[in-house]
Amino acid sequence: MTATPILSVRDLHLAIGEGSRRAPILRGVSLDIAPGEVHGLVGESGAGKTMIGKAVLGIQPSRARITGGSVTFDGRDITRLPERERRRLMGRGLGLIPQDPMTSLNPAARIGGQIADVLRLHLGMGRAAARQRALELLNDVRIRVPERVLRQYPHELSGGMRQRVLIAIAFACRPKLIVADEPTTALDVTVQRQVLALIKEMQAQEGASILFVTHDLGVVAKICDRVTVLHAGRVLEAGETRRIVEAPEHDYTRALMAATPRHDRPGDVLRPVPESLSARLNAEALAWDAAHAGGGRAGA
Ligand SMILES: Nc1ncnc2c1ncn2[C@@H]1O[C@H](COP(=O)(O)OP(=O)(O)OP(=O)(O)O)[C@@H](O)[C@H]1O
Ligand SMILES: [Mg+2]
Repeated sequence: MTATPILSVRDLHLAIGEGSRRAPILRGVSLDIAPGEVHGLVGESGAGKTMIGKAVLGIQPSRARITGGSVTFDGRDITRLPERERRRLMGRGLGLIPQDPMTSLNPAARIGGQIADVLRLHLGMGRAAARQRALELLNDVRIRVPERVLRQYPHELSGGMRQRVLIAIAFACRPKLIVADEPTTALDVTVQRQVLALIKEMQAQEGASILFVTHDLGVVAKICDRVTVLHAGRVLEAGETRRIVEAPEHDYTRALMAATPRHDRPGDVLRPVPESLSARLNAEALAWDAAHAGGGRAGA
């Protein structure tokens, strides 16, 4: 990679729980994202994709702790930023497209107000300017009658429409990096395709980078420039999407490829990774734990 990365995750270790109950979740994860790059993060359920996405946004579940490594965004280590500075980054430097469009919007507030709140909070816009910009944003995400949608509540919109609104919010403050955690998983296939195309279009228009979390290599092939393959909190393989899809090096990547449902074959379902391979990889992860037992960030 030639350009200085906008995001650099280095040897990130994260564990949940304390003392003898401490369970490693991320086992030395590294990845770089260049400006303007869409970077796929793939792996089965439980691999730690969401944990990485959260760490990039500077948040962890209450019992989780970063025990080593760094997450450098725009030159600063997010894992060590004071809460106030981290918050300032949210919205402005960093954006999020969440998985579940239903629970991610406030059910009691109109769409226009929710978009305007973000603009007023992070950019200090006045009422009229925020409303104008909210209209523009809804236009950008191809919502047909934006004036009407501004006045509507989330439950009045379809899942696809709600996801468009969340994409508008993610891009509202022109962030440099967006974490998209399974942004289309909750949508049906046709809508999924439209929303993917929209994310790609907005990303290109704004020149933002995206960390695109998904379990679906078919989706990765459509939208990502590069991809990192994760299993049990370890990176098994990373590289250009084309290379990964056409000539995967790791057995697990090959198994994921074989397991990926074909969107052009209706009714095709996800086939699981063979049990023998899962068992081997889990044993490797346990061996890793044994080799790293007692390790941790000094003073953490
Ligand atoms: N709050 C929590 N307390 C304890 N363990 C947790 C918690 N959240 C996640 N984990 C564990 O951390 C691991 C990684 O979880 P994570 O949610 O990052 O996986 P994921 O790759 O995003 O999976 P999915 O595809 O299902 O979303 C899993 O083993 C999970 O059980
Ligand atoms: Mg997840």
